Amino acid sequence: MTTATLHLGQTLSFAASPFDAGPDAAQHQTHGAVLVQDGMIRAVGSADDLRAAYPQAVQVDHGDGLIMAGFVDAHVHYPQTGIIASWGKRLIDWLNSYTFPEEMRFGDADYATEIAGTYLDLLAAHGTTSACSYCTIHPQSVNALFGAADARGMEIFAGKTCMDRNAPDGLRDTAQSAYDDSKALLQKWHGRGRANYVITPRFSPTSTPEQLNALGALWAEHPDCLMQTHLSEQLDEIEWVKGLFPEARDYLDTYEQHGLLGARGLYGHAIHLEPRERDRLRETGAGLIHCPTSNTFIGSGLFDMNGLMAEGQRIGLATDTGGGSSFSMLRSMAAAYEIGQLKGAPLHASALLWLATQGSAITLHASDRIGNLAPSMAADFIVMDLASTPAIAQRSARANDIWEAIFPTIMMGDDRAIAATYVAGRALKDG
Ligand code: GUN
Ligand code: ZN
Repeated sequence: MTTATLHLGQTLSFAASPFDAGPDAAQHQTHGAVLVQDGMIRAVGSADDLRAAYPQAVQVDHGDGLIMAGFVDAHVHYPQTGIIASWGKRLIDWLNSYTFPEEMRFGDADYATEIAGTYLDLLAAHGTTSACSYCTIHPQSVNALFGAADARGMEIFAGKTCMDRNAPDGLRDTAQSAYDDSKALLQKWHGRGRANYVITPRFSPTSTPEQLNALGALWAEHPDCLMQTHLSEQLDEIEWVKGLFPEARDYLDTYEQHGLLGARGLYGHAIHLEPRERDRLRETGAGLIHCPTSNTFIGSGLFDMNGLMAEGQRIGLATDTGGGSSFSMLRSMAAAYEIGQLKGAPLHASALLWLATQGSAITLHASDRIGNLAPSMAADFIVMDLASTPAIAQRSARANDIWEAIFPTIMMGDDRAIAATYVAGRALKDG
C-alpha cells in the first residue's frame, strides 16, 4: 500500500442523475476532501471529518478549487487531432477533403505514436481523463493509442476503424481483414491494464454488408466489448444509406440486421431518428452519444436531448474531435446548453456536468469505476478553477450558489479552468 493522500477543496459528486432527481442529485461540499490511495478513491467527505479520520495522510490543499470526476469523452477520433477546425465542408465532403487524407498517414507507426501522445496530453490539459476513440484502419494506430494511454495510466476505449468501401485507396480493409485485425487487437489489448477494445465499423456507408456481418459475428463472440459507430448525423448521409441498403427499414436497421445493435453499442450523433429507431434504441438500452460542437460545426442538426431523455434513452456527451471544434468537454457542455436552448429546453449546470462524467461513463458501461467522485472509483479527478479568467472571475464573484459559480466556467471556460488533472491518483496536470 502506498501512502494515502487527502485532497482538500470544494467537492462535487452525484448520488443520482439530475435528469431523474433534479439538481439535488449533485452533492456539493464547500470544505470537502477526497482520500486517495493506490490509485483509488477511498473516501469522500467533509475536510474536518477526513482530516480527523486519516491523520497520517499527506494533505494537498487545492484552496477553493472544485474537485470533481475527470471528464469522460464518449466519442472522439484521435487521428483527427491535426485537422481539427478545418473550414467550410459538410460531413461527406469534410471526410473526403480533410479526414481521409490525414487518416492515411497513420500507416506510419511513428506518426501514430506522435499524434497519440499529443492527443492524450491535450486531454489531460482539458480535464478529460477517459475517452472512447476511433483509430484508423491501421492496427498500428490502435497500438499507438493504447500504448500512450498505458504510459499515462489512463482508461481508454478504442478500436480499429473498419471500412471496405467508399473510402480511398490505402484506407480500405476487407470484411475478412477487418475481422482478423480487430480480433487480434482485441485479444492483445482488451482488459490489459486500463485498455478496453471497441469493435468499430465507421458507419454503414463505408462498410459492405459482408463487413458489417463479420463485425457483428466478432461482437457476438466477445459480447463484453463495446461496439461504436455513427448513426443519422446528416440528412444527405441518411439518403446515401437508403440507396446503399434498399432493404433496410431505416439507418439503424443497417446495423440491426448485421448483429450490430446492442446495449453495449454506442451510436454517435443520433440526430435525425425515426420513431422505430428511437423505440429500438430504447428497448435495447444502447448508448446515444451527443456531439454538440460537431453538430453545429459540420452543420448536422439539433439533438433532441430532452425528448430522448424523457423516453428513457441512455445518453453520453462527447467532443467528436476533430469534427467537433474543441478538445474541451466544457465547450461540449456549453454547446449542449445552446442546442438545448434552440430546442426550447435549457439544461441545468448539474445535468451538463453529469452528462460529461457519469452519463458518458454509463454509456461506456464503466460507471462502476469512472465518472464520479466516490469510494472504490478510480482516482481520476480534476480540480477546476472557477475564476480562471478575468471575464469568468467577475461573473462567478457574484454567484449566490454553487451552480451560479460553475455555470460561467461551463459557458466560457477552457483548459485554463483546469487547475489539475489526476489519473489513478497521479497528477498529469498540476498548476
Ligand atoms: N461519420 C463517419 N465518420 C465520421 C467522422 O469521422 N466524423 C463525423 N463527425 N462523422 C462521421
Ligand atoms: Zn465520429
